[in-house]
Amino acid sequence: MLVVQLSDPHIDALRPEKAAAFARAVGHVLELPLRPDAVLITGDCTDHGLRSEYDTFQALLAPLDMPVYVVPGNHDDRAALLSRFGHLGTQALPGFLHYVVDDLPVRLIGLDTQRPGHGGGELCGRRLEWLDARLDEARDRPTLLFMHHPPLVSGLDVMDAIGLEGSARLCDLVLRHPHVARVVAGHVHMALTTGFGSSTLMTCPGTDATFQPDLSHPHQLILQYQPPLALLHTWSQPTGLLSFTHFLESPPWVMLHDGQQWAPNDPPAAQAH
Ligand SMILES: [Fe+2]
Repeated sequence: MLVVQLSDPHIDALRPEKAAAFARAVGHVLELPLRPDAVLITGDCTDHGLRSEYDTFQALLAPLDMPVYVVPGNHDDRAALLSRFGHLGTQALPGFLHYVVDDLPVRLIGLDTQRPGHGGGELCGRRLEWLDARLDEARDRPTLLFMHHPPLVSGLDVMDAIGLEGSARLCDLVLRHPHVARVVAGHVHMALTTGFGSSTLMTCPGTDATFQPDLSHPHQLILQYQPPLALLHTWSQPTGLLSFTHFLESPPWVMLHDGQQWAPNDPPAAQAH
């Protein structure tokens, strides 16, 4: 199984470079040596939630011939997303983009963390009770939760001011369900990894850039821009769930080690290893 996670494209009519970066990311997904089984977009699909921005977003997704699963970010319009993507998955919670994807070796559960009108997110009692029931009904299945707002404290005041309410309750829930193999999110535009209950939490940067904060100034947000990343979540019988960090900037290229040695004509840089 290969599930590609992209995040935070922020399609913006006034900033065409955002759409161009997302188009490159989609093209990159299609060039991967292994065809993905699904693509996750973990929110902030558009910057202003405008119809024209969603039209562009959907047009840019069109080349992807595998299922694409979307959850809303704080910049999105939930009603607009529901009208276009409300059919996704199964067992959807009415009024939210909260749903299950049950046809892969790893069960995927999309969580709608949006709190309309706020930069921060929330998982209210109704959304957490739904999740509790979904996790209870398949305790033998490795499960990946995907959402926009990560349930973490980054230590960066500007980011933490728009964090996720309900994180502690979500953590308790994950602790009671050790089959939650991974929790993944977007929002912070950085690549963070931390423990979360009995699971591991990872964030996927945006499709246009990865932010690297200047930690010498935690009360300000001084960002170095770095190349965009995707996360590739893979599963096989011997490995279980593995998540790779994958650069989106340059096209993927392939070299061969046949199990004994590198194939002839390796690139010079590779021969040094
Ligand atoms: Fe964002």
